[in-house]
This record gives sequence, C-alpha cells and structure tokens, in this order.
Amino acid sequence: MYGVRIAGIGSYAPAGVLTNQDLERLVDTTDEWIVQRTGMRRRHIAAPDQATSDIAVPAALAALDAAGKQPKDVGAIIVATATPDYLFPATACIVGDRLGVAGTPAFDISIACSGFVYGLTTGASLIRGGMYESVLVIGAETLSKIVDYTDRSTCVLFGDGAGAAVLERCKDDRFLGATLGADGADPTVLYLPGGGSRTPYSSVNGEFHDKRLGFVHMQGQSVFKVAVNMMAASTTAALAQAGLTPDDIDFIVPHQANARIIDATVKMLKVSPDKCVVNIQEYGNTSSASIPLALAEAVAAGRVKDGNIVVLVAFGGGLSWGANVWRWDGARVGKVPASYAQPERAAQVATA
Ligand code: UT7
Repeated sequence: MYGVRIAGIGSYAPAGVLTNQDLERLVDTTDEWIVQRTGMRRRHIAAPDQATSDIAVPAALAALDAAGKQPKDVGAIIVATATPDYLFPATACIVGDRLGVAGTPAFDISIACSGFVYGLTTGASLIRGGMYESVLVIGAETLSKIVDYTDRSTCVLFGDGAGAAVLERCKDDRFLGATLGADGADPTVLYLPGGGSRTPYSSVNGEFHDKRLGFVHMQGQSVFKVAVNMMAASTTAALAQAGLTPDDIDFIVPHQANARIIDATVKMLKVSPDKCVVNIQEYGNTSSASIPLALAEAVAAGRVKDGNIVVLVAFGGGLSWGANVWRWDGARVGKVPASYAQPERAAQVATA
C-alpha cells in the first residue's frame, strides 16, 4: 500500500456578499437572532450566471499552485457537491475541461455536507491502492441557487463557496484514519424535494415553483441533535484507527453549520476551542465547501503546523457523517489566479 499526503489546498468565495442586515429586509428575522442561534453574520453568494464549476475551478487552481502541480499531473478529479451544474453530467467533468485536462477521469460525490470528507477518503483510497499518484478533491457549492429566500428557517443559514485539496502519493503515510457513515431512514430531514426521480420536474406540471420543490427543506432541530453526536463519535472512531484519542488532536476543522454545534462538539470531545477553526461568521454554511474553506483559513493564518494531528469532521444530509485524521505535512494554501479576483459587492438573490 502507498502512503498519501495532502500536498496543497485552495479556496475561493464568490464576490457577492449577503449580510444579516440584508436578510432582515427579506424575511422576518433579526441580526441578533441569527448571530445568537448560528454565529453567522455574512455569506458569499454566487452571481446569477455563476454555477458551481465556475467557483470550483479557481479553488482547484489554488490547490494545484500550492502543491506545485499542473492539472495534467492529477490522475483523477472528484467534486463533492449538492448543487451540481446539472443533475448530469458530473460537475467534475466540466471542471476537468475547464482545467484543460479533458480525458482525466472525473466524478462527483453527492453526500451533502459530508462530501469533502467522503471525497478525501475516496481520493486517498485511490492513491493508496495504486490507481493514481495524485487526486484533486474539490468541495464546491452554490447553495444560494436552491435556498428559498422567503423561508427564514433556512435562508439565513446557507452560502456559496469552494475549496480544494491535492492529494499525492508519498512514502510515509499521512492519512491516519477515516470513518464514514450514513442513515437514510428519513431523507426528508434535510433534502431538495424536486428534480430527482422521486418527483421529476416533468411530474408536477408547472407546480414546481408553487410547491417550493426546487428549494432546500430542513428540520433544523432533528439535524442539530444528530450533528453533535455523530461528529464527536466519528472523530473518536477515526482517531482510534490511528491509536489516538481526542487528547492527541492538535487541530480540528468541523463542518461549519452552526457555531453552537461546533461548540457542543468540541466540548463533548474535550478539545480546547483554540484548536478549532470557526469561520461561519463570514461564510455561513457552505455544505461540502465549508471544511476546505475553514482549513485554508487556518493554514494561511499559520494555525496548522507541520506534524500536527489534524481532524476534519463533517455531517449533513443523508443523514451522513464522517471524519478524517491527517498528519499535517507542509501543505500550504495556493494563490487564486488574479483573473478570478473581484471586489466584494452586494449579492443578488432570487426572492420570488
Ligand atoms: O449542514 C447541515 C445542515 N444543517 C444544520 O446543521 C442545521 C442544524 N440546525 C440548526 O442549526 C438549528 O436548529 C437552526 C439554526 C436551524 C435553528 O435554531 P434553533 O435554535 O433550533 O431554533 P428553532 O428551530 O427551535 O426555532 C426557534 C424559534 C422559532 O419560533 P417559536 O416557535 O419559538 O416562536 C422559529 O420560528 O425561532 C424561530 N426562527 C427564527 N426567528 C428569527 C426560526 N428561524 C428564524 C429566523 N429568524 N431566521
């Protein structure tokens, strides 16, 4: 079996910004409620003509830059997303073309907010098994396209963004443990009701919009309870594979769904909050992009050091959950090409 390491990471957030004050003008909510119940203050929002692949590509280029690799050096491309450009083809195929490497195998992982952890685990397994020497894993979302900006219980929570990691073969294995899980007993706890084979667009004759089938629906409290328990349990299980315990964690990057969920999880694990990154105030919940966005921020700030035991832990729709344990090995955050840099602007969202 080969070893695998994270060789570089990157992230990208679209220029549009939606603040709590903007949301106060859209629905019956307050900045105070949002901050107290979630920790969120702003979220980045893709432009109407920006799809998920459009923000995945700059994050991928940044990760490749950090890894010192060209797109052609990558054996496979994995995109974790709940908001693909199309139901098919996979967004990863479009990203591959945009990176100039049409022909490289590319596929999406659809497991909502757990997608990046599932993607890293899959990519690492492909490298360990000898299939590829390097795999590009991207978590990218344009959740604003499926958020109902008339529903205050969900619209304050979600944002758009992308993050990526380049995995590569190495001698000393840095991928110390992983656990993944899922329970589909009640998919409606957190789901997009329409557009799949259960309720295709064609089946509801123009009622798609009236029934809000194209928007995310969530039973927030049910998700909350599972989130804390499963993030803590996944972390402990993944660490145990490496013969480690939560005491050995140097840095933890949890899925950014709610600051209260993160607080409760680190408390349950008895991990000091200064070993944890929280950037939910700037991005909201970006689903499969939240871990790489937070990881990139922590690495850029010098909070993650070489040799550190780093846990990445997620949960989300499915329901699903998973954790990875990595030994950090020099990966830095790459630069997004200047052509993608845009000044911040007020976001436009569809409210009808
Ligand atoms: O990535 C994974 C996906 N999702 C999650 O992880 C979400 C997990 N769940 C949560 O983060 C929380 O459950 C929420 C943030 C969604 C909600 O927080 P909560 O503390 O569980 O609030 P709640 O649903 O119990 O609602 C409390 C009150 C209700 O009013 P009443 O019935 O007490 O009068 C809601 O109607 O807050 C009301 N409410 C709001 N008020 C102002 C719900 N949304 C809002 C809002 N602004 N945006």
